Formats: sequence, C-alpha cells, structure tokens
Amino acid sequence: MRNTTHHHHGGRRRHLHLLLHLIYYFLISLTIFPLLTTSKNLITPTQFLTGNQTLISAGEEFELGFFTPGISNNYYIGIWYKKIESQTVVWVANRDSPLKNSSAILKINSDDGNLVLINDSGKSIWSSNYSRAKNTVAELLDNGNFVLRLENDKNPENYLWQSFDYPTDTLLPGMKLGWDSKSRLNRYLTSWKSPDDPSTGDFSFKLDINGFPEIYLTKKQRINYRSGPWNGLRFSGVPEMKSTSPFTFQFAMNRNEVYYSFNLKNESVYSRLLVIHTGVLQRLTWIPTSKIWNQFWYAPKDQCDHYRECGAYGICDTNASPVCNCVKGFEPRNLQAWNLRDGRDGCVRVNKLECESDGFLKLSNVKLPESGTAFVDPEMGLVQCEELCKRNCSCLGYSNSNISGGGAGCVIWAEDLYDMRQYAAAEGGGQDFYLRVSAADLGLKSLLLKPDRTGRTDRFDRKLKVGPIRLIHHSGEYIEEELDLPLLDFSTVVNATDNFSDENKLGQGGFGCVYKGNLVEGHEIAVKRLSKNSGQGVEEFKNEMKLIARLQHRNLVRLLGCCIEMEEKMLIYEYMENKSLDSFLFNKDKSGLLDWKTRLNIICGIARGLLYLHQDSRFRIIHRDLKASNILLDKEMNPKISDFGMARIFGADQTEANTKRVVGTYGYMSPEYAMDGLFSIKSDVFSFGVLVLEIVSGTKNRGFYQTNNQLNLLAYAWRLYKEGKGLELIDSAISESYSTSEVMRCIQVGLLCVQEHAEDRPNMSTVVLMLSSDCASMPQPKHPGYCLGRRPLDTDSSSSKQDDSCTVNQVTVTVLDGR
Ligand SMILES: *[C@@H]1O[C@H](CO)[C@@H](O)[C@H](O)[C@H]1NC(C)=O
Ligand SMILES: *[C@@H]1O[C@H](CO)[C@@H](O)[C@H](O)[C@H]1NC(C)=O
Ligand SMILES: *[C@@H]1O[C@H](CO)[C@@H](O)[C@H](O)[C@H]1NC(C)=O
Ligand SMILES: *[C@@H]1O[C@H](CO)[C@@H](O)[C@H](O)[C@H]1NC(C)=O
Ligand SMILES: *[C@@H]1O[C@H](CO)[C@@H](O)[C@H](O)[C@H]1NC(C)=O
Ligand SMILES: *[C@@H]1O[C@H](CO)[C@@H](O)[C@H](O)[C@H]1NC(C)=O
Ligand SMILES: *[C@@H]1O[C@H](CO)[C@@H](O)[C@H](O)[C@H]1NC(C)=O
Ligand SMILES: *[C@@H]1O[C@H](CO)[C@@H](O)[C@H](O)[C@H]1NC(C)=O
Ligand SMILES: *[C@@H]1O[C@H](CO)[C@@H](O)[C@H](O)[C@H]1NC(C)=O
Ligand SMILES: *[C@@H]1O[C@H](CO)[C@@H](O)[C@H](O)[C@H]1NC(C)=O
Ligand SMILES: *[C@@H]1O[C@H](CO)[C@@H](O)[C@H](O)[C@H]1NC(C)=O
Repeated sequence: MRNTTHHHHGGRRRHLHLLLHLIYYFLISLTIFPLLTTSKNLITPTQFLTGNQTLISAGEEFELGFFTPGISNNYYIGIWYKKIESQTVVWVANRDSPLKNSSAILKINSDDGNLVLINDSGKSIWSSNYSRAKNTVAELLDNGNFVLRLENDKNPENYLWQSFDYPTDTLLPGMKLGWDSKSRLNRYLTSWKSPDDPSTGDFSFKLDINGFPEIYLTKKQRINYRSGPWNGLRFSGVPEMKSTSPFTFQFAMNRNEVYYSFNLKNESVYSRLLVIHTGVLQRLTWIPTSKIWNQFWYAPKDQCDHYRECGAYGICDTNASPVCNCVKGFEPRNLQAWNLRDGRDGCVRVNKLECESDGFLKLSNVKLPESGTAFVDPEMGLVQCEELCKRNCSCLGYSNSNISGGGAGCVIWAEDLYDMRQYAAAEGGGQDFYLRVSAADLGLKSLLLKPDRTGRTDRFDRKLKVGPIRLIHHSGEYIEEELDLPLLDFSTVVNATDNFSDENKLGQGGFGCVYKGNLVEGHEIAVKRLSKNSGQGVEEFKNEMKLIARLQHRNLVRLLGCCIEMEEKMLIYEYMENKSLDSFLFNKDKSGLLDWKTRLNIICGIARGLLYLHQDSRFRIIHRDLKASNILLDKEMNPKISDFGMARIFGADQTEANTKRVVGTYGYMSPEYAMDGLFSIKSDVFSFGVLVLEIVSGTKNRGFYQTNNQLNLLAYAWRLYKEGKGLELIDSAISESYSTSEVMRCIQVGLLCVQEHAEDRPNMSTVVLMLSSDCASMPQPKHPGYCLGRRPLDTDSSSSKQDDSCTVNQVTVTVLDGR
C-alpha cells in the first residue's frame, strides 16, 4: 500500500505560508487568478486550479485537473495516472454537472473551508459539501486519493473529505468498497454512461452489507452478477482470487465497517477494478515495461456467472451439459423449459423435509448461495453450526463463514437457495456447503451417521464398488463406470429388522423376502434379502444393484445401500408406506381408497418413470417386468417403479433384443416377447398399457372373465371401446366424480399401448404427452395384442373384422410367474 500520510512538500509549504498570503491578497486585488506552482500537489485558500493547470501528487503518480473525455465537448475535474501517456481517468468530481469550458476554477471556499468548483458565472456546480472548518487544504496523494484536511493534520483518520469515499467507476489499491459507520457511507462503483460521458451510468458494483455480505453487479436495480460472500480467502464465486496472484485482498467485517479492498504485492505494477459502461466488471493491470492495460480478470464471464441462471436450488456447472442441474433431492420445477435449457424456474424438492429426521448433504466446491438474508456467527464452529441448523426447521443449509485456517464461523440459510455454482475441484473455487435434505435423499452412510469430524474410524464408512457397467456416454461412445454403493453391517440390519422377524416381513420379492426395518433415529427402510438357496436370484440381485443404484427419479424406488456379508446378500431401499399398487387395486376392501385423481396421478407417475428409464436416464433400460405388484406407493400415494432384477440396458442403436429365457409375468407380456422372446422398449409399453387398463378398471388382466364370453381385460376393453361404451370399463369402486374425458383418454392411451404390433405402439414420450395435454390429437388404437392367433399383418384394413376373427388363447410359452 502506498503511504497516504507522508509527502515531501509539506515542510517547504509552511515556510511559504506568509509569502503566499501576501501574494493572494495582491492577486485578489488584481482579480487575476493564476496558480501558484510552489506546491504542485495542494490546493490552499491561496492556491486554486483553472484552465490547463493540474495538481500532481508528490511522487508524481497521479495528476488532477480539467479534462474532456473522448470526443466530448464537456469539461470535468478528474484524476488520472501521471505516468501513463494515454489519459486513464480514475475519478471524476463533477460527473453529473459538466462544464462547457475549462475556465472554471477549483478552489477552497473561504467561507466554510470546502472544496468547490465554480463556473464562469460564479456558480458553485460541485462541492466537497463537508461541514464548516477553517484552515483547510486539499491534497492529491500518491495513491490517487484527493483529500480535504486541516492544514496541519495529515492523519488519514481526520480527513474532512476524500475522493476515495466517493468513487466513480474505479477501485484503486487501498480504496475501500463498502460500508463505513462513521461517515455513514456505502461506497460503490458506478459505470460511466459511455467512454465519452462520465455521468452516472446504469451499472453499479455495490456491497450488500445485509446477512453474509457480498457484492452485486447491478443494472439499475436488477442484479446481473454477484461475487458470493467473502470466505476468509476470497469471494466464494471468484476462484481467481488466489494467494499466488499479484494481489493481496482484504475484507473487513466489524461493527465500524464492512469493506473490500485490494493491494498490489509489487508497487511498480498498477491495477484497477472498474465497472465499464457495458456492464462488465474488469480488473486491469499495467506493467511498466509493456505499456499497456491488460485485462487480468472480468465478470460476468460465462453462463454460470449470470445471476440466478439455474433458479432456486439449481446449481450451475460450466463443465456439464446442460449447465443447470438440480441439487440432489430436487427436480426441475418446469421440465419443459428445463429441457429447453432454460433453468431459471429452478428446482423443487422431491421429498418433503421432515425436520427432526432430516440430514445434510455436503456439496463441495460450490459458490455459496445468495446470502443477503443469511445469519452469520463468526465465533461458532461447524459442529455447533450443524446442530443449530438441524434444530431450527426453517434452516435450509449451513457452511463455515471463514475457510481460511481450517474453517471457522457459521452461516445459516433460511430462505430459498439461489445462484449456486459448481466449480471443478482443480479450480479451487467455492467451498463446502451443507444442504438440508430429507432422510430419503441421503445415502445410508449419511443417513446413519453424523459427518465424522472427531477422527474416529467410521464403521459404516464402507463402500461397495458396483459394476463396472457399460453405458453410453453423451458422445455416443461406451464407457465403463463403477459406482460406490454404501455398505451396511449385517448386525445393523439384524437389529433394524428385529432379526428378520415375521412381524417385519412385508412380502416376497423377486428373489427373496422383503422386511421392514427401523434404523437409528427412526428411519424406515425396506430390506430385500436374497434367499440362500436361490440360484437364479444371485444374477438378478447383481443386476438390480448395478442398475438401480444409478437411477434417480421420483417415480423409481430408491436404493439406499446394500449388505453383503458371508452368505447374506441384501438390498436396502427407501420404505414405501403404502405398499404396492396391487394391494389396493385388486382388493375389494381397499380399491375404494383409490379415487380417480389418485389413479390418474399413479398412471402419469408410472409413465414418467418409464420415460426416464427408456429415454432420459443415461441408459436405455427395458424393465421387462412392469406390473401392479412392482409399483410401490409412498405415503402420498406417488407411484415408484421397483424390481429391476430383470431389467436390461440397451445400446444406443439397439432397439430390440432376443432372449431364450422369457421371463416376465403372464398378463403383462407383449405377444412378440411371449412368443419370440423379443423385447424392446415397446414390450414395456405394452405392459404399461395393461397396467393403465387395470388401474382404470380395477381388474386384473389375468383371470378376467365376462359372464357370457370368456374375455380377458384387453379384449373386454377393446370391445367396449369399439362399441362406444368405454366408460363402462371404469372401476365401480370409484364412487366420487371423475372427468369422463380423462377416463376416456386413459383408456385410449392404454389401448394404443397394447396394440398387437410393436411398431404401432407409441413410445413413452408420446404417451406422456398424450396423458398430459388436453388437445394432443391421438390416433385410434388398432387391435390389441392379446391373442396369439394368425391374422393378416395389414392391420390398416378394418380392425373390427379382426376382432371377430380373434379367439382368446392361453399363452403357452414358459413363463416365470412366481411373484
Ligand atoms: C496552458 O494554456 C495556456 C493558455 O491558456 C497556454 O499558453 C499554455 O501553453 C498551456 N499549457 C499547456 C501545458 O498546455
Ligand atoms: C467559457 O465560456 C464562457 C461562456 O460560455 C465564455 O465567456 C468564456 O470566454 C469561455 N472561456 C474559454 C477559455 O473558452
Ligand atoms: C454556471 O452554473 C449555473 C448553475 O448550474 C448555470 O445556470 C450557468 O449557466 C452556468 N454558467 C456557465 C457559464 O456555464
Ligand atoms: C450537501 O449535503 C447536504 C446534507 O449533508 C445535502 O442535503 C445536500 O444536498 C448536499 N449538497 C450537495 C450539492 O451535494
Ligand atoms: C516489480 O515489477 C517490476 C515491473 O514488472 C519488475 O521489474 C520488478 O522486478 C518487480 N519487483 C519484484 C520485487 O518482483
Ligand atoms: C429459526 O431460524 C429463523 C431464520 O434464521 C429465525 O427467524 C427463527 O427465529 C429461528 N427459530 C428458532 C426457534 O430459533
Ligand atoms: C479467518 O480465519 C483466519 C484464520 O483463523 C483469520 O486469520 C482471519 O482473520 C479470519 N477472517 C475473518 C474475515 O474473520
Ligand atoms: C440393537 O438395538 C438395541 C436397542 O437400540 C441396542 O441396545 C443393541 O446394542 C443393538 N444391537 C446391535 C448388535 O447393534
Ligand atoms: C437371529 O435369528 C437366528 C435364527 O433365526 C438366530 O440363530 C440368531 O441367534 C438370532 N440373532 C439374534 C441377534 O438374535
Ligand atoms: C398411505 O400412507 C400414509 C402414511 O402411512 C397414510 O396416512 C395414508 O392414509 C395412506 N393412504 C392410503 C390411501 O391408504
Ligand atoms: C417417440 O415417438 C415420436 C412419434 O412417433 C417420435 O417423433 C419421437 O422421435 C420418438 N421418440 C423417441 C425417443 O424415439
């Protein structure tokens, strides 16, 4: 930092005092006002400035005088670098009161000791506007500060006025950006209007001292960019602020002041931070040898610098495509806009917070969320901080307030989290942030344990490498990927399930029994235990583990971890309060609990889950065993697809595959799969169609008998539909009112999905579209694929004829239906 108190000419000045006074009165009498050049850095009651005269700081670093910017005809008082040839103005006095020519004078007002700028008509057009004082002088210092002080008092604490308190567009080394309680000033930068016009422009860079302070770049009132709060080392959103940089940065936060300032490690280098008229915040540096201003840094730099680019709970990552992602436990609020790469609507929580049972998810290398309403305690440690946050149900996240020296202080957020950004670990930007999420969103490790900060070995901190799995990268190439799955101790599971007691048994899964379990802190889990003598089961177990561990969607059941010890193999899932769909649908006592709204919600949820499997996840997954008993219901009756034991990953271009071992469930299998072992996304679509018709009718496809004809559900639905009596299909247990158009739409979608020929069936994106929009035109369904008879392939001829020719056969292929 340049010395602000010392200058070389002060002593000499005092000797001249008397002489100056004499000359002053002499000149007054002549009404001529030439500048006395004895002290080039001072304006005194007897020394003023006019025309092309300038003040020059003692060390000849800065110069002050009238200037005209660019092609402008206006005159301004400004400060610029003395040693830089192309005039670089860093401060303007009368930015909003231009002068028409330079015959104005800058002087000390003899009445009140203020610095004033007087125009040709003798009017004051600018003033330092400080209170009254006698014997003041104004001095241009070598750091570029122009100060008004008492003649004999050079203590910076006692400056009456200083240009550093009234910045224009430039922050110089040693200048403070921010709040000072003594002067009650919040000093900030404001751009020029244009390179030729220094008047107040639209863009400002201003410290918000509320909450956990940070600096905002705004256009008028609208925020364009924020620095992120100061974290002891740098602004959370400016990874370029490294200790290896040529700068030292200060950030003070105490009762008297909150400010940011910087200095240079090498004082022969110049640097300034400025807001230019285009709205860019720039740091420029000047190295004497190169004689050019260099752009060292600027912001906003990329899409992720744009304020709230990814909305609430979105996190922006320039290394990802698209750049917006929801933080874990959240999903896009507006999927359509999100898919069109507009993330501004942000994300919404998938699983509601439940307060006491919630946990925290650590996000590393993130720019802290907007913190204007955050609460800060610089004394509190991270452990207390977590406790404080956990206790207060409105707390949404916390972090250290100072990451320098191992981390200290506590910040707590209680309002929606905005403007987070992910930095790559190598960039060294951002810091750890702990996000409050419901227990269901945590892996088991964090579910069971507080973060291990005591150094004790964490007995649950074990992971199982799952995979590798071949998957298709964005580029279209295959990559092999392994995944860490939390491993749980067998004794923990024994304890949680009361030693697999009968009371805790939920039912039979694909390859063993399923138990309910209670972990510490009351978290409920479902444990699927592979029966010891299950031969085929091991393959299915591994398959399920590999696949579902990688899938995340609100309509897919979530795998929390696994337990593999000696002979035991178990998968641990989130617990579904309302069991499976079939326990409601096909149970006379409970089907009435499913009103139409719930049923439609279930249909749409399954459709979205299946769409994710087929298309939106990083894989193409064919479930192969979609059925009512594999649809689980959470406590709000949201459907979740489960049981991936038979699921298969498809390659990018692969549309169908063949298997010798046809597995699946009778009643849900498409004809081409049941007969030829051909499976594809369209065989899942078929199963989905069966499910839809079952949900509408409350009737199981298998074992459906009409009194007269022995028709299965598909044939029955088809006949009613052809006869224009589709509504008769609806479950009589639905007592409350329902929308007939919604019901008819679902029946039509169901029939479209079960069409005999796979190529006629819609894909799941079309299904989701058809279910969600009232105006989407839907094709008429063709004949359903429930019969195995031989019929002509040209199905575009009258389908009612085919109906007549169809007989209902029993499927004769070997099926596994032991569910
Ligand atoms: C300052 O202006 C005067 C006349 O107004 C002129 O004679 C003189 O050369 C100028 N000096 C400089 C350094 O431009
Ligand atoms: C400045 O402008 C005033 C009035 O517009 C004029 O009287 C005066 O001569 C001008 N001075 C110079 C140096 O141009
Ligand atoms: C001086 O300033 C006053 C007040 O702003 C203005 O009315 C007047 O026109 C100015 N005179 C000149 C010569 O610029
Ligand atoms: C000077 O300061 C007073 C209050 O401190 C304010 O009301 C006034 O507008 C200021 N005048 C100018 C010219 O800035
Ligand atoms: C400071 O910068 C100047 C100009 O780049 C260079 O010549 C000088 O060696 C530097 N001094 C130190 C101590 O790095
Ligand atoms: C919880 O936090 C909010 C926001 O910081 C605060 O307003 C509220 O008083 C806190 N409640 C309790 C019980 O501490
Ligand atoms: C941050 O912590 C470091 C190391 O303990 C300390 O030196 C520094 O003053 C702290 N910064 C703030 C802003 O509290
Ligand atoms: C099982 O739970 C009980 C009660 O919480 C506890 O006392 C016991 O130590 C636990 N046993 C094991 C093996 O974890
Ligand atoms: C659990 O049950 C098995 C037999 O079912 C028994 O051998 C074992 O000792 C029991 N373990 C505990 C901890 O009760
Ligand atoms: C679903 O489960 C929740 C929580 O156990 C329960 O409150 C609710 O009544 C259940 N819904 C139905 C339709 O049974
Ligand atoms: C789904 O079907 C529609 C309509 O046939 C088609 O435009 C779309 O490309 C298909 N989507 C996929 C992922 O195959």
